[in-house]
Amino acid sequence: MKFIIGNWKMNGSRASLRDMIQKTEKIKTENRVVLCVPFTMLGETSDVISFGAQDVSSHERGAYTGEVSAAMIAETGAKYVIVGHSERRMYHDETNDIVREKAARALDNGLIPIICVGETMDEKRAGKTMDVITAAVRESIPNDVKDKIIVAYEPRWAIGAGITPSTDDIAHAHRVIADNLSYMGLDGTPILYGASVNAGNVADIISIENVGGVLVGGASLKPDEFIPIIQNVK
Ligand code: PGA
Repeated sequence: MKFIIGNWKMNGSRASLRDMIQKTEKIKTENRVVLCVPFTMLGETSDVISFGAQDVSSHERGAYTGEVSAAMIAETGAKYVIVGHSERRMYHDETNDIVREKAARALDNGLIPIICVGETMDEKRAGKTMDVITAAVRESIPNDVKDKIIVAYEPRWAIGAGITPSTDDIAHAHRVIADNLSYMGLDGTPILYGASVNAGNVADIISIENVGGVLVGGASLKPDEFIPIIQNVK
């Protein structure tokens, strides 16, 4: 079973989500299809798609105007939440420590955190990719999470760029993540690849060793792009 997780970021509408749900309702897939949508769109149901949020507060409750707690997300019926997406790390200065706190709140409330790690172009050019990934895996994951989390490798320079790393580079990064997870006693944790996934490249990406699924941004927004992705993951 592979994961196909869409991340709508700050796009779409309740109407476009309902359209996606309707157009996917007859799809047969062995895989797990999830859409992580803006908070205001949570609460829909589907037989094919599970739902998730894109961020969660690191606090349980209280005077944190504008934040949304893990309990609130769970109450909508959502099962997943992305934490530490590169856009949160970049625009909201989220560190590995903050990401770990957010993942812990998600787990406390029965949500599966999708913990994102990945290098910037500067880090890649400086030859630091594997160090950055290793630190993020070691520092962003709470304790005692066997079979409760998903990790996503998202090379930050390839997100939304229409380019992907080579097959060898993806395989290498996923091997490093898998080895770190194994060292932490987390063998079997699904490791998703994310950045510029589309219907044309998904079959090749999914066949790379240690790739347990994909995290799809732009191509998850429209049914005529997202449905072929689902169908091309065998
Ligand atoms: P993209 O985004 O597929 O548009 O590159 C991926 C992501 O940010 O999760």
